[in-house]
Amino acid sequence: MIKNIVLDCDPGHDDAIAILLAGQKDKINLLGISVAAGNQTIKKTAINALNVASYLNIDVPIAIGCEFPIVKERVICASIHGESGLDGFDFPKPKQSFDKRHGVQLIIDSIMNNDDVTMVCTGPLTNLALAMRLEPKIVSRIKEIVLMGGSIDNGNTSPAAEFNIMCDAEAAHIVFNSGVSIKMIGLNVTRKVLVSDKVISRMEKINNSASEMFTKLMKVFNENQRKTFGIEAGPLHDPATIACLFDDKVIKFQSMNVEIDINHGSSYGRTNCDVFDYLHKPHNCLVAMDIDVNRYWDVIEEGLRYYK
Ligand code: BDR
Ligand code: CA
Repeated sequence: MIKNIVLDCDPGHDDAIAILLAGQKDKINLLGISVAAGNQTIKKTAINALNVASYLNIDVPIAIGCEFPIVKERVICASIHGESGLDGFDFPKPKQSFDKRHGVQLIIDSIMNNDDVTMVCTGPLTNLALAMRLEPKIVSRIKEIVLMGGSIDNGNTSPAAEFNIMCDAEAAHIVFNSGVSIKMIGLNVTRKVLVSDKVISRMEKINNSASEMFTKLMKVFNENQRKTFGIEAGPLHDPATIACLFDDKVIKFQSMNVEIDINHGSSYGRTNCDVFDYLHKPHNCLVAMDIDVNRYWDVIEEGLRYYK
C-alpha cells in the first residue's frame, strides 16, 4: 500500500534529492513538506524547498517552519551547502507559493487529518518536537518516524555529534522519548553511499531535467566535501530515509535504546546507541546498521528516471 508521508527537511543538497524521491506519486503519497532551519537559515532552506519542488512539478503544500532551535544557538552548514544552502544549480522562478500555515501546523494538520502518516525528517528535529508539544494527540497517531541523524560511531560536526541532532539536541530528545516508533539512519551507514564520479556519470546519462539538477548539485556538493573533510565524494545522507520506504532490503536495522546527549558539554548531540544492550533500557529505536550500496543507487536512478 502507498504510504502517507510528511517530509520535514532543510535543503541542502542531499535533502533536495530526498524531495525528488518523495515526489514519485506512484510510490508514495507526499502530504506536504515542512521546512526546517539547518543547512542554512530558514529563509534560504524554505526557498530551496520551494525551488526544488516547483522545478520537479511536485505540487504539495510547503510550509515554513521554525527559525531557531528550542534551546541552543542556531548553527548552519555553509561549508558544505554554500551560501544559498543549495549552491550549484540555477532554478527557474518557482511556479508555486508557500502554504500560509506554519510548518509545525502543517505537520499537525497532516497527521490529524490522515491515518497512518510516516514522518520523514532529514534536518534538525525542531518542527516535529514542537508539533508534539503543541498537539500531543499527534504522538499516538504517527505511524513511524524515519529520520536521518546521529551515528553509532563518530560525528561530522563534533567528535560525538552528527549535524542534524547537534543543531537541536533538545528537539531530538523530545522525539526520541515520544514513544513513537523510530528508524534512525545515521552516519555509520550514510558514509557508505558516496556520490563518486562514477555515480555522477551514471546519473548524468539519464539526461532529463532531474538528472541535470542532480549532476550539477552533486558536483558542488563533492567539491565542498573535498575542501571541508578532504574526501573525494560526499555521503548522500538524506535520500536513505525515502529509499528504505521503497525497498526494505536497502537498509538493515537493529532495535536498541538510543539516548540523546543534552548535556551542554563536548558530547552535546551525541546519539548514545546501546548496540550491545549494556543498560537494559527499553528499546526506543531501530538503528540503521548497514546499507546495500548497489540497491541504494538503483533507487536513486529510478527516482531520477521518473521525471521524464
Ligand atoms: C545531515 O546534515 C546535513 O548537512 C545534511 O543535509 C544531512 O541531513 C548529515 O549530517
Ligand atoms: Ca538535511
